[in-house]
Amino acid sequence: MASKLDLTGRWALVTGASSGLGREIARVLAREHRANLVVTARRQDRLDALREEVVREFGIECVALPADLTDPAALDALFADATRDRAIDAVIVNAGMTFYGAHDDATDDVIDAILATNVDAAVRLTTRALADFDRRAADGAVLLVSSLAGEFGLPYQAAYSGTKAFVTRFGRALRSERRGRPSSITVFAPGGIATEMLDDSGLAKKFAPGSAGVMAADRCARGAVDALVARRGFVVPGFVNKLGYVASRLLPTACTQALLRRAYRL
Ligand SMILES: NC(=O)c1ccc[n+]([C@@H]2O[C@H](COP(=O)([O-])OP(=O)(O)OC[C@H]3O[C@@H](n4cnc5c(N)ncnc54)[C@H](OP(=O)(O)O)[C@@H]3O)[C@@H](O)[C@H]2O)c1
Repeated sequence: MASKLDLTGRWALVTGASSGLGREIARVLAREHRANLVVTARRQDRLDALREEVVREFGIECVALPADLTDPAALDALFADATRDRAIDAVIVNAGMTFYGAHDDATDDVIDAILATNVDAAVRLTTRALADFDRRAADGAVLLVSSLAGEFGLPYQAAYSGTKAFVTRFGRALRSERRGRPSSITVFAPGGIATEMLDDSGLAKKFAPGSAGVMAADRCARGAVDALVARRGFVVPGFVNKLGYVASRLLPTACTQALLRRAYRL
């Protein structure tokens, strides 16, 4: 694996860039690394606003390409468009969604959308990105945004928790399998982040912005980008989250599950 990734003047693709962690990651890449950006999500107006901001503030190049990543053809078209005239050397696989509530109350459509966004699209985009790096013998990097939720079986977020366990194992397996190649893959596993995901799901009522384990999105984004450029294997940002991760390894499962049942009960 090559040494630290220098993204100055090189291109990064950020998914889920219309809000929350993805938007902040895009800002950090532009401001602190002078990377050029391809930003994607479904909401074009948000992407256009971000593009205007980073071009004006940081003098980088930025292209907004809206896409629904749950549509495999749209994802392939997005990646083809993004790489047609430029080499993409960092891919931030960040778009995701959750449902907070009893699994019985989640419709099939919601569950399908969680699996399609968090798993199917993440696998497909990662596969495309790594193949592109290999074809160019590039020293590129993929950042898979997973979650601490992948370390537990989170009650009332069963489908989400399962998808993040998948993402973490998938990334760790690929990193191991691809050892010795110039490119890298990093799994980033935050705890709570104060974003629309927390507000829209209702989780913010339990885990308010500013409470222990809920990070500000800009701080979390800095941790994500640091992990990406340093080519770390697996990173849990923040002291409280690191404690939670260690607890997940040391405490008996029945004990952590009982604590989580209490913390997440509706
Ligand atoms: N917030 C937390 O507490 C937390 C904790 C740990 C990990 N994470 C992870 O962090 C990542 C970012 O989440 P966030 O907290 O920043 O949430 P967010 O503010 O809700 O952002 C989610 C992003 O994903 C995009 N997205 C969702 N479905 C999509 C689809 N079908 N196609 C394309 N884009 C789609 C959304 O854009 P559009 O709606 O415009 O498409 C949005 O930009 C996720 O992977 C999440 O699992 C979050």
